[in-house]
Amino acid sequence: MIPICCIIRNCYFRNICYRPSKDILIKYLALPNLQLYRNSVISIINAKSIGRSTNTFAKYPKASVSSGTSIQLLQKDLTKSFEMENKAPKTHIKARSKPYPRSKEDRTPVKDDQVSWSVKFDQYEPHEYTSDTVSGKSGKPIPEWADTGKVSPKRFNTVDGDVNRISYHGTYDLDGSDRPKNPVGRTGISGRGCLGRWGPNHAADPIVTRWKRNEKGEKLQKDGKYILEFVAVQRTDNKEWAIPGGMVDPGENISATLRREFGEEALNSMQVSPKEKDRMLKAIDTVFNNGTLIYKGYVDDPRNTDNAWMETVAMNFHDDDGSSVGMLKLHAGSDAAGVKWMELNHELQLYASHVHFLEETAKKLNAYW
Ligand code: BGC
Repeated sequence: MIPICCIIRNCYFRNICYRPSKDILIKYLALPNLQLYRNSVISIINAKSIGRSTNTFAKYPKASVSSGTSIQLLQKDLTKSFEMENKAPKTHIKARSKPYPRSKEDRTPVKDDQVSWSVKFDQYEPHEYTSDTVSGKSGKPIPEWADTGKVSPKRFNTVDGDVNRISYHGTYDLDGSDRPKNPVGRTGISGRGCLGRWGPNHAADPIVTRWKRNEKGEKLQKDGKYILEFVAVQRTDNKEWAIPGGMVDPGENISATLRREFGEEALNSMQVSPKEKDRMLKAIDTVFNNGTLIYKGYVDDPRNTDNAWMETVAMNFHDDDGSSVGMLKLHAGSDAAGVKWMELNHELQLYASHVHFLEETAKKLNAYW
């Protein structure tokens, strides 16, 4: 077998930056002798960048690429692993719950085996609903985060000016009225509900973690594994605890959203002096410069409809020695503040798919769950 040493940090798949873990590479590439150098970039998208990345191998004495075929193999298998890791959820649970959030609107019943579009359901007549705020019927101007009326079909599946209409799960179809078709299936409601965009609505979720410690600073364990804590906020709309995520603003890049949302949601509610706040912002910068991808894709969100849905990028920012963000004194246990360090374990009950993201985080950091 040809030994392949790879220099991999970021791979680009359909223009999405993807950082595969060593486990994933070994699993899907079935290359036991794979070596990883995380300080250079390999791009798996086109021949031009393959050429560039081949050159970067030369910089590392231990690394070598035997032939172009190796890169092609890598490209094929990474694509496969990306798709496997980023499969949309198979069904809708929260996206079939009723009444529809912030309304009294009902959803047309859709049974478990009727969710998929590939299952014939001739009598299906979803209830049409787009909120007045989003449609402009409230009398107020349509908010800047919402589409103004119908979007030309050509603009779907593209980056449309400042609006990213690309799904993390590849090309989505349009229905008979040229409206995007939910990639997971039926939800019982057509239209946009309270979501601003037709098709994917992009959010970002920063999962900020530290190890749980006692007063002496010693890490605490359960079942032989260290326990993690993450920064949780209580949502104002439904009082559920959640990761302090939020929507990606038009034209904004994901890392800026992650950083901004954390600042807005987790810190603004705290009463601290400007000096203390300055110290905190510096601490956050340190941790936010180093994140690990936890999930990228469709979210089974209660606001989803047949034509509009939520997608997110969840990143973990871990403060291993508790010297930066981990030092932030969030008012633990104080519901009024709406922000606290919360222990990660299998009993967590959180908004949308957030529990799933935290379970993944615990796995990645080999922590108690
Ligand atoms: C929330 C995110 C969440 C996403 C999908 C956004 O509104 O802020 O935390 O992951 O919706 O449910």
